[in-house]
Amino acid sequence: MKVSLSSRGSFRFDGKEIPFTPGQTIMDAVLAAGEYIPHLCHNPEFAPHGSCRVCVVGVGGRQVSACTAPAAEGMVVDSSSEEIQGTRRAILQMLFVEGNHICPACEKSGACQLQAVAYYTGMLAPHFTHFFPRREVDASHPDFIIDFNRCILCELCVRASRDWDGKRVFGISGRGLASHLVIDSPTGRLGDSSFAATDKAAHVCPVGAILPKHRGYEVPIGERLYDREPISLVGDVAAHEEA
Ligand code: SF4
Ligand code: FES
Repeated sequence: MKVSLSSRGSFRFDGKEIPFTPGQTIMDAVLAAGEYIPHLCHNPEFAPHGSCRVCVVGVGGRQVSACTAPAAEGMVVDSSSEEIQGTRRAILQMLFVEGNHICPACEKSGACQLQAVAYYTGMLAPHFTHFFPRREVDASHPDFIIDFNRCILCELCVRASRDWDGKRVFGISGRGLASHLVIDSPTGRLGDSSFAATDKAAHVCPVGAILPKHRGYEVPIGERLYDREPISLVGDVAAHEEA
């Protein structure tokens, strides 16, 4: 769509002027300007989902999700105050205790967006009581494993499988705390589904829930994507093939 210069607008983001075009969200405009707002369920290749709430920003005294809130002329967006970072930390702490995120034993450590965003917000401890849910690891597929312990229900694999791969391998079942990822196959196992290593869904997980087999620890811990630079500078792990 051709957009005339006169239809552009701008808003203030942590004191910086950010241009936007009609239809862009706050997240769209900020990322396009080379700035950063933490996010987990958002991926610029997919329609906004608005479920993780880690992208919370302050606008006019309210807290809104930057990935779904439309950019508007003259708005003042706060993404760095202690209040906003504190809200994000609380959301992240809940995500950490709802699953079993054993970072030192995870192949994705150092290239995991959940871990990297936690560092970005200054989260040092989970604060809440761990749920320690009993969840499985599904190693039935020849090329990929899925570790349900690490799933944060961002639904990126659900959207990728449905919208890019045309397969609907993944879905979400249950409500609230009982929500969980399910696989569409006769047995419910990944190996009995139509999932393939070449699927878009195989390469969008922001955490260590969907991982390739046969290539563990190729990059030493300490030299991985977010070990080298903070997520605010390098962005999404899915955009870095060799992360
Ligand atoms: Fe998101 Fe990964 Fe869970 Fe799929 S497996 S919902 S991509 S965290
Ligand atoms: Fe905006 Fe998840 S990134 S709600």
